[in-house]
Amino acid sequence: MQTMGRPGDFFHKFASAFDTLYDNQRNSLMRCLDQKFRSDIFIRFTRTFEMLEPIAGKTVLDIGCGSGPYVLKAFKRGAAQVTAIDPAANMLNLVKKKLAGTPYSQRCIMVQGTVPQVNVEPHDYVIIMGVLDYIADAPAFLRAIRQMTKEICVISFPSRHWLRSRLRKARYFLRNCPVYFYEEPIIRKLCEEAGFAKINIYKIPGAGMDYHVTLG
Ligand SMILES: C[S@@+](CC[C@H](N)C(=O)[O-])C[C@H]1O[C@@H](n2cnc3c(N)ncnc32)[C@H](O)[C@@H]1O
Repeated sequence: MQTMGRPGDFFHKFASAFDTLYDNQRNSLMRCLDQKFRSDIFIRFTRTFEMLEPIAGKTVLDIGCGSGPYVLKAFKRGAAQVTAIDPAANMLNLVKKKLAGTPYSQRCIMVQGTVPQVNVEPHDYVIIMGVLDYIADAPAFLRAIRQMTKEICVISFPSRHWLRSRLRKARYFLRNCPVYFYEEPIIRKLCEEAGFAKINIYKIPGAGMDYHVTLG
C-alpha cells in the first residue's frame, strides 16, 4: 500500500518552482494563467497586509512561510521581528536568500518544523497563507494557532468547488500530497472551537478561490 507523503517533502522539492509565482518571475503565458486561475494568491497577499495594519513594531509569525514573500513584506512594512516556520528546508533556504544582505536577516528567526508539532511563543500577528490545504487535523492545528496568537491571525482556507477541487485533489494525489477543502460554516465552527472570539470570513470572489479569514 502506498502511504501519502508529508506536505513538507513535496514543498521541499517544489520550492524553486513555487517561488516563481511571485515577483513576475514566470514567462508571459504562465503569468496569464496564474492571473486567471491563481489570482487568489495575489489577492490574499494584498488583503493580509491590509488586515494587519499597523504592523510597524509588531512581532509576526509566518506559519508555512514558503519562500518568504510575507516575511520580506512584513519587514518592509516595519515589523520588529518575524518568525518563519516551514518543514521544507529548501523553502527556508529561499527565505534566507531573500533576506541576505538586508538588516532584516538579524531579526528573522527561522524554524524548520511542522505545526502543531513545533510550538513557538505567542506573537502579535500570525500569518498562515496557503497552508490549511495540506492540514489533515485542522482542529488540532487551529487550537495550537490560538495559543500562538496575541492579537490577530490571518489565515486562508481553500474553498470547495465541484470541479476545481476534484481536479486539484487528483493532481496532488499524483504528487503524494493530500489536500483538503472547506465551506464557510465549517470554518466558523473550527475557529470558534479553537477559541477565537472575533471571526471575519471573506470569500475571495470566483470559483474555487480561497476564504481569507481574520481572527482575534
Ligand atoms: C502553498 S505554500 C504557501 C507558502 C506561503 N505561505 C505563501 O503563501 O506564499 C504552503 C507551505 O506550507 C508548508 N506547510 C505545510 N504543512 C505545514 C505545517 N503543518 N506546518 C507548517 N508549515 C506547513 C509547506 O511546506 C509549504 O511551504
